[in-house]
Amino acid sequence: MHVAIIMDGNGRWAERRGLNRTLGHQVGARTVRRIVEAAARSGIEVLTLYAFSSDNWSRPSTEVASLMRLFRRYLQSEVARCVENGIRLNVIGRRDRLDPDLVRIIEQAERVTAEGARLTLRLAVDYSARDAIVSAAALTPVGHRSRDEFAKNLAAVTHSSPAVSLVDLLIRTGGERRLSDFLLWECAYAELVFVDQYWPDFDEAAFAAALREFERRERRYGSVAASPPAPQVVPLVNR
Ligand code: FPP
Repeated sequence: MHVAIIMDGNGRWAERRGLNRTLGHQVGARTVRRIVEAAARSGIEVLTLYAFSSDNWSRPSTEVASLMRLFRRYLQSEVARCVENGIRLNVIGRRDRLDPDLVRIIEQAERVTAEGARLTLRLAVDYSARDAIVSAAALTPVGHRSRDEFAKNLAAVTHSSPAVSLVDLLIRTGGERRLSDFLLWECAYAELVFVDQYWPDFDEAAFAAALREFERRERRYGSVAASPPAPQVVPLVNR
């Protein structure tokens, strides 16, 4: 089971309270901790969180700097807890535009947690699905253009380790209903659940509700529904 989340609404959460947007991200980081724990408890195998899109570089530099500080702090403070709880960390996306010090912290966090077998937690940072698709296509030579080969190259260009399969459930908080360049290939047959709560307000109960909604969905992958049980034939009796 692979769940991906677009954690939207930190800025609006803060603005509604007359606070600085960066405060919304700080409270959002607390939600990340709670939802990661809930995911590990509920037996989800892979959780991918959209932390920073490649388009987010266009935000004010103070907001970008504050987000980068939060990622650094999160990786440093959570590694021990991840090891303890069997959580494997992986940061997906480009690394060449990140501060080299943050890249070192990412690599160390990935190394230290590599044995985690309970949950793979992937944070998407400087991530763009379209850029990843273009790069993976360039790596895939003519004559090797199978889906499997392409997926392998997609994993390579995004530093996805372990290489991860398709998304089963995509949740977006914050009331918007779009994918925003997130896991476009991997979401081919994802079930989409949109919730109105802003990310800082998204709690274990809301997460459980999204998982229940997923369970109610019928996944057909382009095929037809499994045949319903044959109707009971009630023999006609002579009256
Ligand atoms: C989108 O909300 C959220 C982000 C661009 C950043 C997500 C970051 C966090 C949840 C906190 C830190 C994360 C980790 C992994 C420690 P927005 O700012 O676009 O909100 P808005 O749509 O209301 O403006």
